[in-house]
Order: sequence, then structure tokens, then C-alpha cells
Amino acid sequence: MPNIIYVLPDGSEQIVDVPCGQSVMDGAVRNNLPGIIAECGGSCSCATCHVFVEESAAGLFEQATSEEQDLIEFLEDAALCSRLSCQLIISDTTAGARIRVSGSNG
Ligand code: FES
Repeated sequence: MPNIIYVLPDGSEQIVDVPCGQSVMDGAVRNNLPGIIAECGGSCSCATCHVFVEESAAGLFEQATSEEQDLIEFLEDAALCSRLSCQLIISDTTAGARIRVSGSNG
């Protein structure tokens, strides 16, 4: 099962196995990791699952849809590597991706 390295808002790291087909958000919520609130449950409408995809993992995930980009645009701490973690789907190629959780998700 692919793993994801979550860099949490306090700077600590958690390595979590996440099944293929689930999202980076699912992996965080199911393992009670702090920082990803996921208010809308993954329907790309709340942006409380904001993360930063570290450079080494850029390109491993599908491109953001315009719907996702519109939500990110309104985030205070948005950056070029910002994504909504409910839209980051795990596959074998995403194994070992480093994902930094925003400290501003609520
Ligand atoms: S969980 Fe709401 S946008 Fe990702």
C-alpha cells in the first residue's frame, strides 16, 4: 500500500499507508491527523483540507480542476504548490509523497 508523508502544522511528520483510490484527505482523517478538517467530506467545496505538495511530489498527482483552483485562490496562505487534499488521489506512483498540511484550515 502506498504511503504518504504528512508534515503536520507543528512541524512533526507522520508516515501513513493509504490505500490506492483514497485521497490524501481520507488518509489524514482516518488516522486522526491534525490540521485537515475536511468540512465538506471531500466534495471540493470547503477548502478546509488545504495542503502544500512538496516539490519532490509535484507532478505525481492529477492537475487541479478549475473548481479546485477557484477555491484555492481565496485562501490566505495559498501558494503555487497549494492543493485541496480531497482531490489528491493515491496511486502506486504517489508513494512517498511529502504533503505539508496548512496551519490555517480552521
Ligand atoms: S474536504 Fe472540502 S474541499 Fe476538500
